[in-house]
Amino acid sequence: MSKSDSKLAINGGKPVSEKPVLIHKPYLMEDDFAAVDRAIRSRFVSGDGPDCREFERQLAQYLGARHVLFVNSATSALELAFRVKGFPPGSEVIVPDFTYTSTALGPLYNNLAIRLADVYPDNGNLDLAKLEGYITPKTVAIVAVDYAGNPVEMDEIMQLANKYNLYVVHDTAQSIGSVYKGRKTGNQGHVSTFSFHGTKNLTTGEGGAVVTSDDQIADRIRILREKGTNKYSFLTDNITRGYYEYVDIGNSYVQSNILGALGTSQLARLDWMNAERKKIAEYYLHNLKDIPNLGFLRQTGDSSTNWHIFVILVPREEKYWIMDALRAEGIHANVHYTPLHRNAYYKHLGADIDFPGAMGFFGGLLRLPVYPSLGFEEMGKTIEAVRKVFSALFAD
Ligand SMILES: Cc1ncc(COP(=O)(O)O)c(C=O)c1O
Repeated sequence: MSKSDSKLAINGGKPVSEKPVLIHKPYLMEDDFAAVDRAIRSRFVSGDGPDCREFERQLAQYLGARHVLFVNSATSALELAFRVKGFPPGSEVIVPDFTYTSTALGPLYNNLAIRLADVYPDNGNLDLAKLEGYITPKTVAIVAVDYAGNPVEMDEIMQLANKYNLYVVHDTAQSIGSVYKGRKTGNQGHVSTFSFHGTKNLTTGEGGAVVTSDDQIADRIRILREKGTNKYSFLTDNITRGYYEYVDIGNSYVQSNILGALGTSQLARLDWMNAERKKIAEYYLHNLKDIPNLGFLRQTGDSSTNWHIFVILVPREEKYWIMDALRAEGIHANVHYTPLHRNAYYKHLGADIDFPGAMGFFGGLLRLPVYPSLGFEEMGKTIEAVRKVFSALFAD
C-alpha cells in the first residue's frame, strides 16, 4: 500500500469505521440526571447554593486541598487568581507558549504583560532548562500548565519561584485526578485552576474551580466571584441582618446550584472514569508501540496522568495528511491548540525560532479519541486505522 493507494478512505476506499469515532464525549449517566433533577426540583436554582457548597467540600476532600471555590469556568478562575494579587500594571507573567488562550487571559485581564516560555518538545510542559532565562526584574508570576493531564514539574518551578519571590498559578484545567509526587494536582502552586468544561474528565457542562491553601486569597475570591458582595457569609453564616453589603468590585462568576449537584455526582465517579481512560490509553500504547515513526507523549517521572488527552507524535511533514486520512477512515483525530505565538493576538510575542520546543511538539501532535464510553470495537478501529494509514505512508 502507498499514500495514493485506493484502499485508503482518503482516496475513495472503504473506511475502517462507517460510523465516526468521536474525539471526545462527556460521560453522563443516570445518577447525573437524577442529581440535576433533584437539584432543579429543590427550586434552589441560582448561584452558590447548598449543592455548590457540597461539591466544593467533597472536591476539597478528594484533592486534599484547603479551599475549593466553584466558578463558571477555568478562564474565570485564572482571571480571579490574578485579580486577588493586584500586581502593578505592566508586570510580567511567564506563560507557556503551548497552552490554551485562557492561561494568558488571566494575567491579560489584569493589565499584566505576558512573557511566553518554551516547552519540552516531547510533552508540551514548561522546559525547566529555559525557564529561569525568562525572569526579569519585572516578573511577578509564572503560570504552569499540565498539558494533557501530565503533571508539570512543580517542585522545580516552586523552587525557582521561591528564589525570585514569584507567585505561581498552576493551570490544572486538564489534570483533575492526576498525581504528582504522591499528591493530587491542585496542591502544588499558590493557586490552582481547574476546568469542568464539557470535554474535561469531570464535567459540569461549563465550570471551573479555584483551589488554594491561602485563606486570604480564598476569602477575597468568595467576594469577587459574587459581584463584590459578602453574600457568601450571608448565606453560610446566616448573618441575618436581612441584607448583604457591596464590599469590592467583582463580577458574576458563581455557578448555578444545579451544576453543583452535577459536579458532586461526577466526582463520585471520577476515579472510575480516569481508570477507564487509563485502560484505553494502555491498550493504545500496547497496540501501537511497534509502529515505526510513531511516538507518544513523555510522562513526567514520579507522577501519574489522568489521560485527559491521548497524544500521538507523528512525522511533522505528514501530520495534516495523517489527520485527514484518519478522519476519512472514520477516526476523528485532531490537532488541539496551536502555540500562542502562532495566533493573531499573540504573534507580537515571538516567532517560531524562539520556541523550538513548542514548534517541535505541536509540529507532530495529533490526538486520538479517549473517554470512558469509548467501546472496545471503537478502540480496535482506531488502532486499525492508525496502522492502515501508517503502513500506507511508509510503504512509499
Ligand atoms: C490549559 C487550559 N487552561 C484553561 C482552559 C479554560 O477552561 P474553561 O473552558 O473552563 O474556561 C482550558 C480549556 O480547555 C485549558 O485547556
